[in-house]
Amino acid sequence: MKWTRKHLIGLEDLSAEEITHILDTAETFREVSTRSIKKVPALQGRTVVNMFFEPSTRTNLSFSVAARRLSADTLAFSKAGTSVSKGETMVDTAKNIEAMGVDIMVLRHTAAGAPRLLAQNVGCSVVNAGDGQHEHPTQALLDLATIRQVRGKIDGLKVGIVGDISHSRVARSNIWGLTKLGAKVMVVGPATMIPPEIERLGVEVCHDMDKATAECDVLNMLRIQFERQSGGNPFPSIREYTRMFGLTQERIDRFKRHDLTVMHPGPVNRGIELAPEVADGPQSVILKQVENGVAIRMAVLYLVAGAAEQSRESS
Ligand code: CP
Repeated sequence: MKWTRKHLIGLEDLSAEEITHILDTAETFREVSTRSIKKVPALQGRTVVNMFFEPSTRTNLSFSVAARRLSADTLAFSKAGTSVSKGETMVDTAKNIEAMGVDIMVLRHTAAGAPRLLAQNVGCSVVNAGDGQHEHPTQALLDLATIRQVRGKIDGLKVGIVGDISHSRVARSNIWGLTKLGAKVMVVGPATMIPPEIERLGVEVCHDMDKATAECDVLNMLRIQFERQSGGNPFPSIREYTRMFGLTQERIDRFKRHDLTVMHPGPVNRGIELAPEVADGPQSVILKQVENGVAIRMAVLYLVAGAAEQSRESS
């Protein structure tokens, strides 16, 4: 297929064919990271800026590594120590950065909708690196790539997303991506952590972790986002949450689920949503997710840069 989008805002916007095209493009880039010289000239002469208004380890570094493996020049911007802390708006800041000749802006922001607003106000490409509770498209894409790699398919699998669904942009992007590619999605957690009417997105709701462990092919264990819980804890205690919804080796053994694939987007609250022996065990693909993140972000940067080039040539 011909890729025509110069921005990546969310998986809600993409067709199944477009999502599959990103996954297929990432497959071709995965090999680059195994070479002794891990570089291809695909984005030579282009500049990618990471604009992170919220903390990040994986996404920020992964986009930098991806851009450098494509031979792009990279710049990093964070809120602290810049004129944003003096009251400059995000759009004014972005326009000033764009005037320096930037080709792609990778934006993480606390506000849902910030990447779309940015895309409407700048001429360069914008890639969403996580916006509030809205979407985290490259996280879902790397999750899809990992499922496809370890299970050989996505269509027909049952994938459980466990935890704080209400506050999770990772859950939202995964739901869009998984359902579009034919997976059955079960969202799992206490009722206080699952938005009302989420079934409208085509998912099954489950409040029983034993049932989820018994039935799912893949469990994606979300971090409890203590920093996003403004109205107090949505469960009686952390110990209670762990007992009811934590994934432990005992739970896996009880249901004889040694074929279960265990995922986590990171950062992990060890011993809360995921027992350390499971996080580090043979069924965990957490580091494979991180590895695939570089290939997915290479694919996304490469595709949006190509689409921007085509739109420049045709205008
Ligand atoms: N998974 C994820 O987005 O991690 P970071 O917050 O470290 O980027």
